[in-house]
Amino acid sequence: MRMFLEHAQEFAATRWKMSQDVVWEKHNGSSFHADRVRRVHEHVLHFYRGPWSKVWKQPQTTPDAVAKTARRKARPPHMGDIGGGEFTSYDGGPRLLRSVVRMRSMHGRARHPTEKPIGLLAPLIRYVAAPGETIIDPFCGSGSALEAALLTGHRAIGIESHEPYAEIAALRLSQNIFLNDNYSGDAS
Ligand SMILES: C[S@@+](CC[C@H](N)C(=O)[O-])C[C@H]1O[C@@H](n2cnc3c(N)ncnc32)[C@H](O)[C@@H]1O
Repeated sequence: MRMFLEHAQEFAATRWKMSQDVVWEKHNGSSFHADRVRRVHEHVLHFYRGPWSKVWKQPQTTPDAVAKTARRKARPPHMGDIGGGEFTSYDGGPRLLRSVVRMRSMHGRARHPTEKPIGLLAPLIRYVAAPGETIIDPFCGSGSALEAALLTGHRAIGIESHEPYAEIAALRLSQNIFLNDNYSGDAS
């Protein structure tokens, strides 16, 4: 958002376009705006480069649909060149993952002060990357995105400057490397 508001010109030059924003609604808040509205969410933004037709996109679903066809007729001008789209669901079948994902934060069980739940990251990674592709997290902290990437059948590269966190990430990955790669995140 800062890029759009303060650095729009510079950002346009990079040719990255935003295709989707997702909100993670947490069960607890942070003290960011303690004197105004209690902040209980984080943003997830998906940017892409190149033609939209070449961008990997795997719809993510939950098993609670009613019969319905959802169509996107025209692209919103601020969302890049993403064209039309359609998704049909049936009663009790898969429903597209909602753009507001409600999930408990890691508060009380976290290894890192801003650790993200695997169940939040797994469907987002599956959405943006084909199986076997590599996920790079240059600020990987305790390695949540790396673990989610491996569990969803991807490869992962992490970079972390604080050594104790890097060690936590390495330990997590070495422990989970043999689990099956069909991990299904809990997005309820
Ligand atoms: C928001 S946290 C990531 C938390 C992570 N998603 C998790 O679930 O544990 C950002 C991390 O980036 C690391 N970091 C900050 N600047 C960095 C840099 N220049 N190079 C590598 N890591 C950096 C911090 O030490 C911190 O652990």
